Amino acid sequence: MHQDIKKILVTEEEIIKRTDELARQICEDYRKEGKLPLVVGLLKGSVPFLAELIKHMDLDICFDFMDVSSYEGTESIGDVKINLDLHASVKDGSVLLVEDIVDTGRTLKEVKRMLKNKGASDVKVVSLLDKPDRRVVEIEADYVGFVVPNEFVVGYGLDYNQKYRNLPYVGVLKDEIYG
Ligand code: XMP
Ligand code: MG
Repeated sequence: MHQDIKKILVTEEEIIKRTDELARQICEDYRKEGKLPLVVGLLKGSVPFLAELIKHMDLDICFDFMDVSSYEGTESIGDVKINLDLHASVKDGSVLLVEDIVDTGRTLKEVKRMLKNKGASDVKVVSLLDKPDRRVVEIEADYVGFVVPNEFVVGYGLDYNQKYRNLPYVGVLKDEIYG
């Protein structure tokens, strides 16, 4: 375990097993609907989860990335800035949005709205983690890996000052790291 980590909340084994389950469920659902989604990862946090997820998806999917930043502390929704937009067109297509964590829900709500505005016919969301205690806007992911308590978590894509994204598990930092 990394020396800055106080405890591990979700192990690598648990993530891989759960991601496989999610991928099977997602593919079954899209197959039933006769749709093939464009898989869209939100940078940078979704990268390890997206990489694991697509390995278990038995569909001929393509994937793309978006980078958005949300402004903390604002009460209104709609304050999401696009740093990097999609290359692919989503017009009349299905989108599977991949997130690391749904926290307040602001990012997700806004990105879903943007994709609908670009003409996506349907947008589903898969998130590795869900922190429901922090939600301020009404939105849920369609598929969730793990529900986590209201603690700041790092690893498996999640960072503290851009660090710890490469940890193969999700954990909580020692108090002294926050200074
Ligand atoms: P909202 O609040 O819009 O934001 O749902 C979701 C984004 O906020 C970041 N986030 C975290 N990042 N540990 C992190 O490293 C956390 O505990 C955490 N909670 C929220 C993350 O970028 C997510 O996409
Ligand atoms: Mg994020």
